[in-house]
Amino acid sequence: MDKRSFLKKASLFGLLPFSVPNFIASSNGHYIGQRTTNPKAQKIARETLMPDFKPWQGSEESFWEEVRSQYKLVPDFINLESGYYNIIPEPTLDGLKQNMSHVNLRGAHYMRTELDQDRHKIAKSLADFMGCPQENLIITRNTTESLDLVIAGYPWQKGDHVIYAIQDYGAMKVMFEQVTDRYELTQDIISVPNHPSSDEEIVALYESKITAQTKMIMVCHMINITGQILPVRKICDMAHSYGVEVLVDGAHCIGHFEFKIQDLNCDYYGSSLHKWLAAPLGNGLLYIDSKRIAQLWPLLADYEKDPNNILRLNHLGTHPAYITLGIYDAINYLNWIGIKRKEKRLGTLRSYWMEALKNTPGILINTPNAADRACGIGNIGLLNMTPAQMADRLLNEHGIFTVAIDYANVKGCRITPNVFTTFEELDHFIAAVKTLAQS
Ligand SMILES: Cc1ncc(COP(=O)(O)O)c(C=O)c1O
Repeated sequence: MDKRSFLKKASLFGLLPFSVPNFIASSNGHYIGQRTTNPKAQKIARETLMPDFKPWQGSEESFWEEVRSQYKLVPDFINLESGYYNIIPEPTLDGLKQNMSHVNLRGAHYMRTELDQDRHKIAKSLADFMGCPQENLIITRNTTESLDLVIAGYPWQKGDHVIYAIQDYGAMKVMFEQVTDRYELTQDIISVPNHPSSDEEIVALYESKITAQTKMIMVCHMINITGQILPVRKICDMAHSYGVEVLVDGAHCIGHFEFKIQDLNCDYYGSSLHKWLAAPLGNGLLYIDSKRIAQLWPLLADYEKDPNNILRLNHLGTHPAYITLGIYDAINYLNWIGIKRKEKRLGTLRSYWMEALKNTPGILINTPNAADRACGIGNIGLLNMTPAQMADRLLNEHGIFTVAIDYANVKGCRITPNVFTTFEELDHFIAAVKTLAQS
């Protein structure tokens, strides 16, 4: 199947039809003033390129070859660093370019009369994709914004206590430090083992730090430096039995493997959609349990006054709206692949290189190999060099791009293949690690 026949033109706004209200009821405050209704505007349909949803007829490998052909990849290195963010496939990139032209063409008319409806419809698609009510979800720019909104906006009282892990992401840790100084909180910082013996060992670690003052636990759904998946549901159930709320850092999970946010029983869940959903850079989501919405202060104040309306927390100001529109194309693209199929592929790629290297003398694997404790991301170190030296030599001597991690009990390079990665590329990586281990 060539690329032309794979792609079909579809009207995004056939699916997301324009509707132009007569006056303003906007939540974002830019739209104050009488809206003009231009009947012609409603007829304009922006075209975008969408995958054909026909089931794939060929072999599994030919499917992944087709996926790879939809990416433009650099010739000068093998990209095993998809953990920072995911580059986007051509159909999504084409959609982004068209969205950018569309927003530019329609100018203030788009911002004043069309954007709110589009954001609403995209939030609905996202809520459907994640199996949660739209009333519990907002679109943000990234995980940092989502989680910092909760940390900064929580009604902290002097003496409140929080628990998180040294393996958590830096931006959230510094926000906890800031609110700790500002509101005179106390903290306990645990360290999650790289190779836990059971879920219960991890749950007990968090539980051991709970006091009568504990208000919140922050926990990674997937630790970014190792790829380890934590038993979030069990941690939430345990925390709730003490009346403690749980903030989940799911930066790496949406679009990576299959789950429903509400099955985790968490209070808050933040994620970056420019990671594994492969949406354009600058997209995130925040889920908040209905019971918790009213208590939060927004990062940016909004005109919405209903304390239970989550949009009260979603003020943004003027922003690149075409970026948000790209979420729609990204969901369509992932639905074409299928989340279960993607999860299986990513898990297979990781265990392929891990199995091949696990008995190599001089290496240290920092990620559990069990399917329920990891998916696409893994971390491996070399005993004869620092992570920085390893990353440097992988790139300069073997043309493989990774990232060095040297903190929080993790010494190694994070290895992150993607849907476009081939087994030949991983063979090259495996051979490179064996060579470096003997050097
Ligand atoms: C675990 C984790 N949390 C939060 C973030 C922050 O994501 P963003 O920069 O998209 O806000 C990252 C980024 O890599 C991460 O790995």
